Amino acid sequence: MSSVVIVGAQWGDEGKGKIIDYLAGESNLVVRAQGGNNAGHTVIVGEKKYTFHLLPSGVLYEDKLNIIGNGVAFDPEGFLGEVEKLEGNGFSAKNIRIDERAHVIFPYHKQIDVLEEESRGDEKIGTTQKGIGPCYMDKIQRSGIRVGDLVDPELLWERLKLQVPKKNEILEKIYGAQGYDLESLYTQYREYGEKIKSFVTDTTILTHEALRSDKKVLFEGAQGTLLDLDLGTYPYVTSSHPTAGGFSVGAGVGPNKIDEILGIVKAYTTRVGLGPFPTELENETGEAIRQKGKEFGTTTGRARRCGWLDLVMLKYTARVNGLTGISLMLLDVLSGFDSLKICVGYEIEGKETRDFPASLKRLGKAKPIYKSFPGWREDLTNITGFQELPKEAKEYMKFIENYLEIPIKIVSVGPGREQTIIREEIYRK
Ligand code: GDP
Ligand code: IMO
Ligand code: MG
Repeated sequence: MSSVVIVGAQWGDEGKGKIIDYLAGESNLVVRAQGGNNAGHTVIVGEKKYTFHLLPSGVLYEDKLNIIGNGVAFDPEGFLGEVEKLEGNGFSAKNIRIDERAHVIFPYHKQIDVLEEESRGDEKIGTTQKGIGPCYMDKIQRSGIRVGDLVDPELLWERLKLQVPKKNEILEKIYGAQGYDLESLYTQYREYGEKIKSFVTDTTILTHEALRSDKKVLFEGAQGTLLDLDLGTYPYVTSSHPTAGGFSVGAGVGPNKIDEILGIVKAYTTRVGLGPFPTELENETGEAIRQKGKEFGTTTGRARRCGWLDLVMLKYTARVNGLTGISLMLLDVLSGFDSLKICVGYEIEGKETRDFPASLKRLGKAKPIYKSFPGWREDLTNITGFQELPKEAKEYMKFIENYLEIPIKIVSVGPGREQTIIREEIYRK
């Protein structure tokens, strides 16, 4: 057995897509377990850039099975659009599988997402407006429509017949918006069901069989730990569990089947959407990081908020995930700064702490306590061996490892596949 969970250790966009594509080369299965097309995972191969939202980031390897697991919020329109794009780029979609249990996103979910954000005013979350929250609300409320229903015209009709009038009432009476025509929504989604039918199966069997026969399974996290519904900066979170525990439920595998939990960590911190961010730099340093790191959202194009690395936060995310290793991303972006800072504690109401507060009110008051490090001037993007990295960069990483007591197993010095320094093999031999 050899299985690896790839988990975002910050607020998402840590570079998961790049590492998944890299490790997919030696994997047999790539499995998405939560979230939906709110994710935006970038893979760069040669000169070409690919972005995946709902498709697992292993799809550029056609011999690998790419699974959209039971825990995913599945948007058929988004899926078919991505498949078309994939095929347009000359790749095959034949090895993609979708779990029958995954919940389907309908247009009313997307519309409610937008309207709910508007109605929150200053309290809005800053969602991606893909209907993720409202889809999961239906799931939790036990009124969702699943992929297995979507591909069965009779069941789809039964379910929609119940749901559409209720959603119309909400849209019309609460938000003063227009509702949906049941018949035309049914026709549209029955067609989607027809188109995706050949991809649909019980994926938990495929994953189980792969693990049982010693194949290599890569679990692809979307979002990041601080966007976790339970463990993140609630309410400024997404509506799923991007933490390590979420993979067991979202992919239907026992927790004892997971060997490695690799935390994907950006060498600094970014966040899209609203909510507290103690090390945020709303100045020219933050702007310099944004420009150098091209920190603009993959899904929404929004400028990402940027700041220094925060080890108080990472100590917490390492703990709640049980990280066994780190892949440190975008280290190249930090070249050229005279000095760098790392947050090693917070001062909250005059008291120092090293614990990441659960209370958003306390987190909002946290003033970072920094340790400064000398920067380096060298361009890192062509470096292929750890020893060749500037000594200042090695010092920066050593401090992170010592503080977190977790080894940095991969260092990424550019978006390309070849710009990846492996210090320790990820899959057990
Ligand atoms: P994800 O959501 O975690 O997959 O991350 P995104 O794809 O949304 O954002 C990460 C961005 O950083 C993408 O544009 C990647 O191409 C890019 N990237 C990944 N690793 C590196 C790296 O080591 N250096 C640089 N400069 N860019 C990287
Ligand atoms: P990847 O997989 C960064 C954020 C949104 C918003 C909050 C809730 O690319 O790392 P949602 O639409 O999920 O209800 O929005 O979560 N968010 C992400 N931020 N990366 C992501 O995915 C994200 N997916 C959702 O910006 O703050
Ligand atoms: Mg992203």
